[in-house]
Amino acid sequence: MSIQELNSKFIEKYGESGEQARVFYAPGRVNLIGEHLDYNGGYVFPAALDFGTTLIVRPRTDGKVQFASTNLPYEASIDYSEIGKSKTGEWVDYPIGVMVELAKKGTPVSGGYDLLFHGEIPNGSGLSSSASIEVVTGFAFLTLLGGDTDTVEIALLSQRAENQYVGVNSGIMDQFAVANGKRDHAILLMCDTLEYSLVPFVTGSYKLVIGNTNKKRGLVDSKYNERRSQCDEALAILKREVPALSYLAEMKPEQFEQLQASIPDETVRRRARHVVEENQRVLDSVEVLKKNDLKQFGLYMNDSHVSLRDLYEVSCEELDVMVEEAQRIPGTLGSRMTGAGFGGCTVSLVHEDDVERFIKEVGEAYKNRTGLTGEFYVCSIGNGVEELKGEI
Ligand code: GLA
Repeated sequence: MSIQELNSKFIEKYGESGEQARVFYAPGRVNLIGEHLDYNGGYVFPAALDFGTTLIVRPRTDGKVQFASTNLPYEASIDYSEIGKSKTGEWVDYPIGVMVELAKKGTPVSGGYDLLFHGEIPNGSGLSSSASIEVVTGFAFLTLLGGDTDTVEIALLSQRAENQYVGVNSGIMDQFAVANGKRDHAILLMCDTLEYSLVPFVTGSYKLVIGNTNKKRGLVDSKYNERRSQCDEALAILKREVPALSYLAEMKPEQFEQLQASIPDETVRRRARHVVEENQRVLDSVEVLKKNDLKQFGLYMNDSHVSLRDLYEVSCEELDVMVEEAQRIPGTLGSRMTGAGFGGCTVSLVHEDDVERFIKEVGEAYKNRTGLTGEFYVCSIGNGVEELKGEI
């Protein structure tokens, strides 16, 4: 939908007013490698997508905050004095959580606003539609109210909204990628210190293909939190051996080999092994990428999937089938699940001459084997959050 079309919808919904509307945008993200490492203080390697959430926002004078979306039916009109007092269980909890955090920072949106969101990211697909809504909201209000629009701070504020208001204990990766992405670059982010570098993701004749299993992610929050506490348990045990260890991902694979037997629970030991090995894999992946060795990068993607399936156990049949079918296509260099898991999307690196065949054959085999219809997006890496200036 063009900005002009979106603006027409905005006027249809809220009518004309003397106030100026402005337009903001934040993308979704795909994680290329480094899964379930952000809350373990490790390295992740995500990239911003070239589609996301657009927000048109216009001030009101009566203190009401009005929420609507072009793609979700729920709407709300809430007096600012009531914002954040009770959760709705609806998508508006994401922007409301951000408003609560903005108020804590001394930037209340108390004058009132009309908001229209337009989301292009399929919900529940693991491509961070929620982080995209949070970050676009935070950036828009800080811009409008003359606050600090440092995108690292906005990522942190958005994560706090998700952790504290929405109640999902996610790490920093999604909000960080959505806020700081850059066209044709992936972000190598150290999640403990938030030091990061933009690494050119130059893939020549290879394309990133995202496959949506369309498997709704059931129980993802509770299983996610369970993984987090298993990692905490492993860390507490390893800390007895290495008191200076503050995050699981700090441990090198060789050191883990020596100490792993001190973790008595076999499941917890496997979770820890995934974290330690996946962290090393991210660093190795970035090295081979710098040398343009896409073939090896693809093999690391495959290894990452195996580890998430067998050690961390966050994959599911649908993801495994899609990855397996993707890997059968000759032009596929690598394929893995991306994001939290338990459903959602895969990401594959596929030769451009084979993309059509990939979509057809993986799609058919996936449908035959699971009964579900997958969807595929050939994606480019886009920019992080921004204002779309002069568009309306
Ligand atoms: C979800 C979370 C992220 C991260 C990934 C797994 O997307 O929101 O913080 O933990 O899962 O890598």
